[in-house]
Amino acid sequence: MGCYHLWSLSLGVLLMVCGTLGAAPRKPVNVPFGRNYVPTWAFDHIKYFNGGSDIQLHLDKYTGTGFQSKGSYLFGHFSMQIKMVPGDSAGTVTAFYLSSQNAEHDEIDFEFLGNRTGQPYILQTNVFTGGKGNREQRIYLWFDPTTAYHSYSVLWNLYQIVFFVDDVPIRIFKNSKDLGVRFPFDQPMKIYSSLWNADDWATRGGLEKTDWSKAPFVAAYRGFHVDGCEASVQAKFCATQGKRWWDQREFQDLDALQYRRLRWVRQKFTIYNYCTDRVRFPTMPVECKRDRDV
Ligand SMILES: *[C@@H]1O[C@H](CO)[C@@H](O)[C@H](O)[C@H]1NC(C)=O
Repeated sequence: MGCYHLWSLSLGVLLMVCGTLGAAPRKPVNVPFGRNYVPTWAFDHIKYFNGGSDIQLHLDKYTGTGFQSKGSYLFGHFSMQIKMVPGDSAGTVTAFYLSSQNAEHDEIDFEFLGNRTGQPYILQTNVFTGGKGNREQRIYLWFDPTTAYHSYSVLWNLYQIVFFVDDVPIRIFKNSKDLGVRFPFDQPMKIYSSLWNADDWATRGGLEKTDWSKAPFVAAYRGFHVDGCEASVQAKFCATQGKRWWDQREFQDLDALQYRRLRWVRQKFTIYNYCTDRVRFPTMPVECKRDRDV
C-alpha cells in the first residue's frame, strides 16, 4: 500500500493517490556506474563523483559524450535517475535508450529536448521494431526535470514495453504480433545514454539554437539499475535464478491504477502522438488500435 502526491499542473490541484502498487517493478537500488556501464565516446567529458555512484555528462562546443551498458539484454527492467541540464538548455538533447546492434534493429527511446531558461522540456519517446520507427510521442513533464533527480525506466517483456517516469507509466507499446506488428523479442539490446547538440531540430523545431556562451551543459546521473537477462547466458541464468519476474502475470499488463495514470498523462501532457497524426498517417498504424484502448 502506498500513498503519493501528484501535482496536476493544469488542474492546479494536489491529487492524493493511494493504492497498491501492484505491478510496479522492483525499486532500483543505487548501483554505481562502473558495474553496468562504460563510456562510449569523449571519455574526458564524463565526470565521476562519490566513487562513481554519480556522474555528469558535459557538452561543450567541441563535443557531447555518452555511455553504454557492458552487457546486452533480452527483456528486463532498466532505469536511470537523471537531473537534466538546468538553465538554458535549448538545442541540447539528453537521451536514454535501448538498442540492438543489427541492421533491422529494435530500439526503445527516451529523448529529453532542452529549452530556454524557464521554458518546458519535451520528452519524446519512440519505438523501433525490425528497423521501423516513426512512432514518436511527445509529452511535457509535470515537474521541472532540472531541479531534482527523477527516475526514467523501461520495463520490457514478451507482452509489453512500458516507459515509466518515476512510478508513472507514460507510454505502453503492447505486443501486437497478432495484428502483424513486429515486437522486439529476439535481438538483445544494449542500454545507451548521451548528451549532444541537436539544435537543428530539438527546440521549437530548430528555431532556438544552442547558446554556447552557456557551456558546458551538464546532465547528472545516478542509480544505474539493470535487471535483465544478459544475452549470452540468458536462458539458463534466468531460469535457474528464478530471475524472470518481469514475465509474471502482474507485469503482463498495467493494472487499473497504472491505466488511470497513463490516461492522466495522455489527457494533460501530450503534445504529439503519431497514432492521431492523420496527415502523416492517413491510415492509422495498426498497433494504435491497442493504444486507443487506454
Ligand atoms: C520550449 O518552449 C516553447 C515555448 O514555451 C514551447 O513551445 C516548446 O514546446 C518548448 N520545448 C521544446 C523542446 O521546444
